[in-house]
This record gives sequence, structure tokens and C-alpha cells, in this order.
Amino acid sequence: MPTLLLGVSGGIAAYKSADLTSLLRKRGWEVRVVMTPAATQFVTPLTLQTLSRQKVHLDPFDLPADSGVAHIDLVKGLDLAAVVPATANLMAKVAHGIADDLLTTTLLALRCPLILAPAMNSAMWEHPATQANLRLLESHGVSLIPPASGELACGDIGIGKLADVEEIANRIEALHQKRLHANRLHGRRVLITAGGTREPLDPVRYLGNRSSGKMGHALAAAAAMRGAEVTLITTASLPVPPGVGAVPVATAQEMLEAVQKHLPGADLLVMAAAVADYRPARVASQKIKKSDEALTIALEPTPDILATLRPLRRPDQLIVGFAAETDSLIPHAQRKLERKGLDFIVANDVSRPGIGFESDENAVTVLGNDGVVANWEVASKQAIAERLLDLFADRLP
Ligand code: C5P
Repeated sequence: MPTLLLGVSGGIAAYKSADLTSLLRKRGWEVRVVMTPAATQFVTPLTLQTLSRQKVHLDPFDLPADSGVAHIDLVKGLDLAAVVPATANLMAKVAHGIADDLLTTTLLALRCPLILAPAMNSAMWEHPATQANLRLLESHGVSLIPPASGELACGDIGIGKLADVEEIANRIEALHQKRLHANRLHGRRVLITAGGTREPLDPVRYLGNRSSGKMGHALAAAAAMRGAEVTLITTASLPVPPGVGAVPVATAQEMLEAVQKHLPGADLLVMAAAVADYRPARVASQKIKKSDEALTIALEPTPDILATLRPLRRPDQLIVGFAAETDSLIPHAQRKLERKGLDFIVANDVSRPGIGFESDENAVTVLGNDGVVANWEVASKQAIAERLLDLFADRLP
């Protein structure tokens, strides 16, 4: 269970730390709460104690149950620390190493990353002292979740509102993931294909499919975050994740050639692309003109990229395919795994509403040569990509 030290300092937004505690607990975090004396005026320790299901720490001179030192015991085993909300006063103290209550003393003893989510009146936020402290904190490696603009508790309109609680929880989790997985794929070369191929009929039309490329791009981002050297062969015009080398392609033939070119140096290939199975047998050199007659288009099979790689691959490479199915998900995926000679196949049921093609979410079953290795219910494509990359990283020789 990841463990967060949640510091709460004394601003009106302190009551929102209750929502954050509850949300993080639901997402599987242990939350250790430390409050400043002023924070207890805005939210009761009992509330946070009940929601975090453990003792809330307030007083540096509280006698610990054993003979430990409170602020040193508090930082043991932490994955991350966050102060939500962080007042101007708290930020000033942390920036300058002042330790005059349990929270600031504990923060000075931290050995894990610290995130601050400031909330205050606009004038306090914009004050040159606060802005200078912000720069100082950033130079110390502290992450900041900037306040939002809107109506403030004092009635003023401006910057200073605590960022959205869900956004804060997401940032905490993202930072944790980043730290957890940094360099897991360091020195590895990862090749990923993404998007649906477009097979031209004439100079203006093509046969395509509904694949958006989001899953493949999320996989490339997750691989790059783990320190891999990533090549993304993509048909999608989505942003290329930072640190990823993109090879734009359109047709199955172009994708085949790009995969064949990059495969020899790769440790892992993930074919997330939806490659056309057929293409027009003839591409008209001019735009096909409209007429009242029915139009018949002859189609020919495209090369099956994964199947053509079978004799070329090395045993130390991990090759993964995707199977988008509308019926009999597992038996179909199982047959593809065997026919294409894959190490894993990621099966998703594209007939289920709200997941798969074009969606930001997915739900997948991963099959290996010994059967089902994972079955993940609906989650963001980013979260699924993270889990897939961890699974593949574990299996790389
Ligand atoms: O046979 P099917 O198209 O359902 O298989 C899906 C898997 O095979 C995906 O990983 C896809 O990228 C790959 N594929 C391929 N070449 C094709 C068609 C699909 O490599 N022509």
C-alpha cells in the first residue's frame, strides 16, 4: 500500500483535505495526517482521523507510544508527502527550513518527494515574498500544484483557490507512478505501433477503421516514462509523447516496412495498431467519379505484419499483439496468439459501450502461452498502458 504523509495547514480550504483523504484511501493509499494548530480551527482532527482510519498528528511534544521521536517516526516508510492546502505561511517556512511545529519539523526531515497545493487570497499569492518562496521551493525539487482562479472564500475573484481535489489526487498518483517505475526499462528498446491503417482507393478516399491510436500512444508514453528508447510507428495525428521517436505511416504496407526496419534492435514490440486485413486491389490514379451504377471494389488481403515477423524474431524479443473482438473474445484471441506466434495478446471487447475504439478508457484481458495472465476492468488507457508495460518489463529476459 503506498503511503502518503498529508500535511494540512490553516486555510479555509483545509476542509477539502477531508475529501482528498477519503479519495486517496479509496484508491488504496495509506494516509498519515499531520495538521498545523491553525488547521484544526478549520477541520477537526476527528474528521481526518475517521477518514484516514489512523491517529492524526498535531503536537510535536505528544508522547509517542514507544520511545521514538515523533517527526522522525512519521517520515519512515513514506512514498510521498503533500501539503493540502499549503498556506503562504507554510510555504515560507518550508522554503527557509523553519521547523516550529510538528508539520514543518516533519517536512524538514523528509526523504521522499514533497508536493504543495497552495490556497490563499490573490494578493497573498501574488506578493513578491510568496513568489520568491515559490521559486525557492521549486529549486529544492518541491512539486507545486498551482491554485485555480475563481471566487475566493473572502469574496474576491482571482487566483488562489485550491486546485480541484481529484486533480490533486491524480497528480499525487502520477508522481508516485513516475518514481516507482523510473528506469525500469532503462537501456531497452521498445517498438510500438498505433492507430488504424488507411488503405487508399483513389487520391482522396481510403478504407480505414475506428482505431484512434490513443492506446498505442499511451503505451509509448508509459514506455518512455520507464526509461526505454521508444519508437512509435503511428497512423494517428495525436501528440507524440515526450522522448518518443515517431515514424508516421499510413498503410499496412508502410507499417510492415517500418516494423521490419526497426524490429532487429528492439527488445519489445507491441502491435497496438489496427491494421487493415484487406485493401483495394487497385488504387485509381484519379478520383473515382460518381455515377448511378453500383460500384464494386475488389479487395486483396494485406500482409499480416505479426505473422511475417514470426521467422525473423529472436527468442529474446518479446512480441505482443492486440485483439479487438466483438464476440467470443478469449477463444479468438487465443487462436491469434498461437497463429501469430506471440508471447502475449491483449484482448479487448470493442462491442462494449464506452471502451476501446475512440474512447479514453479500455478494459482488457491479457493472454500468454499459459492462459490468462491479467484481467483488468475499465480504467483509463493511460492506466492500462502503465500496467501492461510493467507486466512486459517483468517478462523481458
Ligand atoms: O488478426 P487480427 O487483425 O485480429 O490481429 C490483431 C493483431 O495483429 C494486432 O496486434 C494487429 O496489430 C496485428 N495485425 C498485423 N497485421 C495485419 C493485421 C493485424 O500485424 N495485417
